[in-house]
Amino acid sequence: MTIGILGAGIVGSGVAHCAAQAGMQVILSDADSRQWERAQKSIAEICGLQKMLKMRPADQCQAEDIISRISFTDDIEKLAEADFVIEAISELEDVKREVLNALDRICPPTVRFASTTSAIPITRLASFTTRANLFVGLHFMNPVPLKPMVEMIRGYHTSEETLEQTKELLKAMGKKAVLVNDSPGFVSNRVLMLTVNEAIWLVQDRVASPRDIDAIFKGCFGHKMGPLETADMIGLDTILQSLQVLVNHFGDPKYRPCPLLAQMVDAGLLGRKSGEGFFKYNLRK
Ligand SMILES: NC(=O)c1ccc[n+]([C@@H]2O[C@H](COP(=O)([O-])OP(=O)(O)OC[C@H]3O[C@@H](n4cnc5c(N)ncnc54)[C@H](O)[C@@H]3O)[C@@H](O)[C@H]2O)c1
Repeated sequence: MTIGILGAGIVGSGVAHCAAQAGMQVILSDADSRQWERAQKSIAEICGLQKMLKMRPADQCQAEDIISRISFTDDIEKLAEADFVIEAISELEDVKREVLNALDRICPPTVRFASTTSAIPITRLASFTTRANLFVGLHFMNPVPLKPMVEMIRGYHTSEETLEQTKELLKAMGKKAVLVNDSPGFVSNRVLMLTVNEAIWLVQDRVASPRDIDAIFKGCFGHKMGPLETADMIGLDTILQSLQVLVNHFGDPKYRPCPLLAQMVDAGLLGRKSGEGFFKYNLRK
């Protein structure tokens, strides 16, 4: 089976890792060819963590083997060869519309599509194609190869067969799915984005430092990570775009992004991926 993935960022490279680790061939496409180098580094780093955490037998955690099953391209047309296509580009509806139109034209009409969107309704994304019954939402968690659960979203027209086939695909990747109905932000991000945004308002209002806010969630509630560390891991641009999707779709001001978040994104402080967000990170060379 060949999996086609469009977008080789945090999520696309993580999904490519899981599919290739499960023995599938992967075509990974991104408009920015520099993302291939970043993806390979991320695969090697996460393989190390999988070995350390004994998540898989060591012989399945060889980065070179995994990378050898992934062919990278900046040509979207190469995805015509895939049996299942996963869209994992930036959280911008207009850009997703353009690439989904193109994929619909390029890929055979029986090929199923999934989107990894964080918040855009799946029914809306499916409407950019002529195969709404073959379209499903797959909200992977980050870092994808370390997270066992995926939020699977049924669009208005998603067929039962598409859901079954997609579950099988996830199972082969060692993942379980929780199926939810379509709604902006689904379950996870309707709750998480509000929490993260409110934590950013607390920083802006100088109620507490990012470190102290996160310490409360970790020490008092037993969370593994605080909301601001989580925001840095997701990417502050993705958080901002997701909140914009929620506020646009619900028209409810409770989702309006905190001005500090927009300012940080404008300043290039995107979190882990840029080396700085609410905390600082060493970008590995
Ligand atoms: N970051 C997370 O924690 C997370 C978790 C779950 C879902 N998501 C969702 O997954 C999707 C991808 O997020 P990400 O964090 O991997 O983003 P990212 O910024 O790390 O990567 C996005 C990639 O898309 C590529 N891209 C953009 N426009 C393109 C185009 N027209 N053609 C080809 N490639 C294009 C970019 O070059 C980049 O490599 C988004 O919809 C996001 O909301 C993100």
